[in-house]
Amino acid sequence: MRNVNSMTALLASGLLLCTTACAAAPTAAEPSAKEFQQVVNEAYELYKNDQEGANANYIPILETVPSELFGVAIATRDGKVYVAGEQEYRFSIQSVSKPFTAALIMAQQGPKVLREKIGVEPTGLPFNSKLALEIYPGRSVNPMVNAGAIAAVSLVQAASEEERWKRVLDNIEGFAGESLPVLEEVYDSEYETAWGNRGIANLLFNYGRLYSDAEEALRVYTRQCSIGINTRDLAIMGATLANGGMNPLTNRRMMPAKDVPELLAIMATAGFYDESGEWMYSAGLPSKTGVGGGIVSVVPGKFAIAAFSPRLNEAGNSVRSMRAIRHIAGKLGVGLYGTNLEE
Ligand code: DON
Repeated sequence: MRNVNSMTALLASGLLLCTTACAAAPTAAEPSAKEFQQVVNEAYELYKNDQEGANANYIPILETVPSELFGVAIATRDGKVYVAGEQEYRFSIQSVSKPFTAALIMAQQGPKVLREKIGVEPTGLPFNSKLALEIYPGRSVNPMVNAGAIAAVSLVQAASEEERWKRVLDNIEGFAGESLPVLEEVYDSEYETAWGNRGIANLLFNYGRLYSDAEEALRVYTRQCSIGINTRDLAIMGATLANGGMNPLTNRRMMPAKDVPELLAIMATAGFYDESGEWMYSAGLPSKTGVGGGIVSVVPGKFAIAAFSPRLNEAGNSVRSMRAIRHIAGKLGVGLYGTNLEE
């Protein structure tokens, strides 16, 4: 084992990626460009042949997305991006959009409105739970689950459906730092089969926890979930949060820096739905997943790790994306509560 002095020197020079030898060591200096690229490559190579899980199929078109696609990226708070694997393919953002629309509510109306009109409690239940809506007095519960996200789009200040949608899209584009397409086939496929979400929207309306027409909220929410992003865009969206709410490519401020901790807290407690505890236990990073296969994790004040792979586990979270991000978080020693080594 290395002696303490040489370890300190390595940490200070940023040359040491965490191994078992540095479990209790102080936070390492920012990894170098070479180290970032190495760890991204390593995560990609480790899991590229992993075939566990299955594409989402309750939105029929998601079953047709090529399952073998896999991309991993890190974007830093100063806008440097390191990618391995697939980086062009535009997959549907799905639930990864949710924290960013919650950020829009915070930017427009403040964190108090988000807490009071939607809620911030984790449900411990699946993302599309109707039971949660019945058992929690706040109904929408939090903006990371479908009920809270449908409530969030309904809360966006807008005079018409068109304006509501424009604000939602402009906000997500602002986080990504570029204009993004809507995957119309995904929208059609989801809207045609959105019976569960329509039920949720109507129940919220019934309980006075929806702030626009129910079908309008459902349409805007479904369109939001159909925005096409690639792995690189997702990493930049996360890097914007890591950078205190300012996009590092465009310098556009997307939300007040003072509200970022609250948003990250909701991502930590509810970003993985009923797997949020398991994820914080293992990776220790505020994150958001989507049934399109994307996941983004934020290392506050430093960088974001993003991955895309369509095969999901039972909770609706991408298996390879989880494993790749978990690997990088462990290797770089960036879990919020200390270095979480992989076991
Ligand atoms: O509303 C839905 O069911 C989808 N548009 C989004 C769900 C989702 O991404 C859950 N995440 N893992």
